[in-house]
Amino acid sequence: MIQNKHSANYIKNNKDVIKGEIGWKSPSNLAIIKYWGKYGDQFPQNASFSFTLSKSLSETQVEWEFGNQGLEVFFEGKKNDAFAKRLIKVVNRLEREIPILKDLSLVVKSQNTFPHSAGIASSASALSAFALCLCSIENYYLNQFDKNELLQKASHCSRLGSGSAARSVYGDWVEWGENSFDSKFSNEYATKLDGIHPNFNSIRDSILIISAEEKSVSSSVGHKLMEGNPYSAVRFKQANDRISELISSLKTGDWEQFGFIAESEALTLHSLMMSSVSSYILMRPNSITAIEKIRDFRESSKIPVYFSLDAGPNLHILYPENVEKEVRDFINEELKPLCHDGRIIHDEIGKGPVNFKKI
Ligand code: DP6
Repeated sequence: MIQNKHSANYIKNNKDVIKGEIGWKSPSNLAIIKYWGKYGDQFPQNASFSFTLSKSLSETQVEWEFGNQGLEVFFEGKKNDAFAKRLIKVVNRLEREIPILKDLSLVVKSQNTFPHSAGIASSASALSAFALCLCSIENYYLNQFDKNELLQKASHCSRLGSGSAARSVYGDWVEWGENSFDSKFSNEYATKLDGIHPNFNSIRDSILIISAEEKSVSSSVGHKLMEGNPYSAVRFKQANDRISELISSLKTGDWEQFGFIAESEALTLHSLMMSSVSSYILMRPNSITAIEKIRDFRESSKIPVYFSLDAGPNLHILYPENVEKEVRDFINEELKPLCHDGRIIHDEIGKGPVNFKKI
């Protein structure tokens, strides 16, 4: 828990303002080292590492008013009870961190810049945008955190909404989770990593929408299944060991080492799903065909192009900025036909959330 510096009389500096509006845009992220398995109060079983996307964003506006506690949620312009249910849980969880929430009635209006059926995980962007709004409201009254402290608290609160959302609070390359390599990293919140080689400062990520269907097994269930997975202990150690290897490749600009880790992590994630009890498969035949084509293209062209997968069938194709044209030509010719309605989202690394509506 991140301690409030003065938690009691929160309407301290702005005591006449009893309502207002705030808005944050927050991006999704792609984990290169995957968080898969959790314990306790949404703590990760292993450290994870991601980069923040640029175009795949949630835009969230929160209107608040002092009075009876309440929550109304609109998603893409329509009242959305399923999303409201999730946010009520998050608000209940966050009351300990943000006591002011007990006295606020909230109206949340959220939308994504990527289509709902695109199969892109939206919990990281949506929950980080929501947490940023709530932490900003609290800070408006308490005025206790500077920008860096506010982001750290928002990362911590995002984590309580959805683990991967903790990393979306920062731009560029972000770590979440304790590891033996460096004591600055924490299970409570994510930390941005500086000193990245220029090779990785403009990494491209083209997302192949192999299937736009809702996935058959949610990430929450997947995390839970790690508890009975015979490989879990080895897996948690592997991920932790890989953090230092990944950081080393990001600092030296080594695409080969980076790509090896990215692909191995993606396939390890899916092999953990297959070896869980009960077992399940989220890749589709076209996911495998695309993987083979990417590896063949890399072999023949010598261009550093690699893939990653989230907990779904869609592929993320990772490559440097300077080969964008060659890779996009390859994607259009060879991979587009494998996608649902030929759908591809060309995204890239981004700078993190933006406070588009200030209080
Ligand atoms: C495969 O963060 O969606 O994308 O904490 O239950 O909300 P909850 O899970 P979530 O899991 C993300 C899993 C992943 C890997 C990753 O992003 O690290």
